[in-house]
Order: sequence, then C-alpha cells, then structure tokens
Amino acid sequence: MSANTVPTRQDFPADFRWGVSTSSFQIEGAGREDGKGESIWDRFCSEPGRIRDGSNALVACDHYHRWPQDLDLAKQLGVNAYRFSVAWPRILPQGRGAPNEAGLAFYDRLVDGMLERGLDPWATLYHWDLPQALQEQGGWTSRDTVAAFLEYTDIVTRRLGDRVKHWITHNEPWCSCIMGYWEGVHAPGGTSLADAMQASHHVLLSHGQAVGLIRRNLAQAQVGITLSLHPITAASPHAADLAAARRHDGLRNRWFLDPLFGRGYPEDTLALLGQAAPRVLPGDLDAIATPTDFLGVNYYFPEVVADDPDARHGGLMRTRLVEREGVERTGFGWEVSPQGLVDLLTRIQRDYGPAAIQLTENGSTFEDRLTPDGRVHDKERLSYLQRHLAALKQAMDAGVPVKGYFAWSLLDNFEWAEGYLRRFGLAYVDYATQQRTLKDSGLWYGRFLNE
Ligand code: FCB
Repeated sequence: MSANTVPTRQDFPADFRWGVSTSSFQIEGAGREDGKGESIWDRFCSEPGRIRDGSNALVACDHYHRWPQDLDLAKQLGVNAYRFSVAWPRILPQGRGAPNEAGLAFYDRLVDGMLERGLDPWATLYHWDLPQALQEQGGWTSRDTVAAFLEYTDIVTRRLGDRVKHWITHNEPWCSCIMGYWEGVHAPGGTSLADAMQASHHVLLSHGQAVGLIRRNLAQAQVGITLSLHPITAASPHAADLAAARRHDGLRNRWFLDPLFGRGYPEDTLALLGQAAPRVLPGDLDAIATPTDFLGVNYYFPEVVADDPDARHGGLMRTRLVEREGVERTGFGWEVSPQGLVDLLTRIQRDYGPAAIQLTENGSTFEDRLTPDGRVHDKERLSYLQRHLAALKQAMDAGVPVKGYFAWSLLDNFEWAEGYLRRFGLAYVDYATQQRTLKDSGLWYGRFLNE
C-alpha cells in the first residue's frame, strides 16, 4: 500500500484490536468524591504556575458520572477495545492499607459497562496519578513505592481480573520520571537527574515484579508495559551530531527498552550518567526482564538531534533538539510524520524483536472549533489518523507484529501541564455543558471501523 492510500479495515487482520485510549486523571474528574485520595497531579495543579491555563482536573470530563454515555460513544465508533487507567488514589487513598470499596466499585461498573457494549477492557495500572501520601515518602525515588505498587496491583487484579484480560503496568515511564522528577514540568515537579533515574529504575522494577504477580493471580492474563518511543535522527551526517543522536536515543529509548529485553541498562548512558546512575540491587535486572505478552508503544513524533556542548543538560547529554524546517506540525508543535511510525516500528522489531506490539496511543492536537452546523471539521486530525493508519499497515506488511491500534483519545481532556488548551479527542468536549460531539475525525474512524 502506498503511503497516500487511505486504508480500509479489511486491509488489516480480522482479529486486529481497534481501540481508543484514555486515562483516569485526564477524564474522570470527581477529584474528591467517594473517598478518593489526593494524587500528585491534584497537588501539582494546586501549585501556582504549574498548569498553563491555571486549571485543574477536579471535574475534567466528568467521566466518573458520565461514563455510560462515553462508553456508548466508543461503541458507536465501532471499536472493540477500550484502554482506560485505574486511579490508584481511588483504590488506596493513602497509597497503601485498606482498599476504598467505593473506588473499586466504580471500576466494577466501568468494566461491566464495557463488556455490555462489546468493548474489551485494557487496563493501565499507572498512568501517572500516584497517591500524594506516597510522594511525601519520596514517591518513585523510594524503593518502598515498588512494594506499594505491588499491593495496589494485587488488589486491582484480584478484583477486576475475572473480566479484564489485558493489563498494562505503566504508561510512559520516560514522562513520569524524566518530566516529573528532572525537568520539573510534570508532577511531582522534581528537578534532580539522580532522582529521575532512581525513579525510572523503581518504575521498571515495579513493572517487572507486577508482571509476575499478575500472572500468579490471573493465569490467562496478557500483560505488557507502554513506552513513549521516538524515531531519532541526527541533524547532520557529522560525527558529532551522530554521536549526539545516539546519546539522546540512549536516554529516550534504550534506557527503557534494553533492560526490558534483558540487556540491562545501556553502558553508554550509564557512563554519561555517572553519579546520577540509579542504585540497582542484585536480581533487579532479572525482574525487569520478566517476559511480557506485548510491548505497548505510544507514538507521536520523531526527533532530530544536534550536538550542543552548552545545552541545558550540559555536561551530560550535550544535545539539542532541532526543528526541521517546512514540515507539518500539530498544535503542540510536534512534527507530523507517518514515516516516523514506520521507522520506529521497524527499528523496534529489528533491535528487540518483541512477540507482539500494541500501538497503545497515537493522536494529534489542533485548534478545534465547534461550527454553527454543530460539527467540528478537524481535517488535519482526520488526515493525521488516515496517514498513520496507512503507515501502520506499511510497517505490518514489512513484518512488524502489530496486533492493535488505540487512538488517543476518545475525548478532549485535561492535557497535563497544558490544562485544557490542547484537544486530542475524536470527540469534542464542551467543558461548560459537558456535551460531547464526534469530530469529523471521529466520524471517519467510525465509518472506517463499521465498513
Ligand atoms: C502521552 C500521554 C497521554 C496524553 C498524550 C497526548 O504522552 O500518555 O496521557 O497526554 O501524550
């Protein structure tokens, strides 16, 4: 298939998973209801200057109350899988201890609602909303948080495991650790590289140990982890830029992929980290490398890297991201590159050979407007979706074992540090009335799926 042909559903295998992806903190709201505890994102939002529009997610899309309607929308699209995340502070308001029955009951209802509508539930255990009580004790920099995550995983998988067959331990450790503990732009707002790296080790360790635990609890479960991955190229063929691209790839991609696939942490990145390298105990790397059933890949954009001795992370990565000129970009400034998806998937396949890949997120943000005809004519998002599906097909034809595609996202939602300024939904949300309207992209995805 050429990159310009719009694919049809029949171009994909009959058992392919077609889904939409969401996360608890971004849509649920009900921030203080039914015994839910405070999360690091609730706290982060309450600190002045953290969120670009000064907003918070106490109400968000009010999905906590409107979930039947939202699941109806997903059903209407024709997807057969629905990715959601469980809010840890709803289940364990203080992070550990006795579970909050009302929180568990919410996910019971939600999962039953999916099954009633023919939607296969795909649960993510950690999509960034750590209980604040655990943060007070160091959050992911503390090894105790690994134990707490296992307790939480045990409770949730025992409760929902009779109905949920697909489990994702973590969403995008790079973001939760590097953006959260080093760059200071995500909760908890830390600015220490050493903390970020220790956090990343604990997140990976908690993943590996959770895989074993989930398998013990649920013999039939399919378990994986979701990473944010980027195809990376050098800004020029000069040796310095090529080396910079490799350094960047080390922290961005290989830091997570290598240990998950049994190779330990990349030597070149460890050497760069020096004192900031994490403390790893005997047995940790074996646990992290526990085999999974699939690798979850979130793909948004490629990166171009140049050498820069004076870069912000000076002395360490000495890299700078370069904006390619004359390319299409989303509202976030992210480069639109369907080819990047092909490059990324074929690279993962070549270097790591996972048994199965699930594309657990892919999507775009643009300035959407509800027009007087009651529609949202988001032609850029529509084209983004079509071209990324064509790219996906191309990668599959080249032998990459992708088994499912989950569009980010069902609804416009709270986009972290950007608040409500970025809309990623297939459905537009009018936050004043909470009315949902399928955008043209969503209408097309529905036609594609129902063909
Ligand atoms: C990913 C996150 C997801 C959403 C998209 C736009 O990094 O996993 O929650 O914010 O980006």
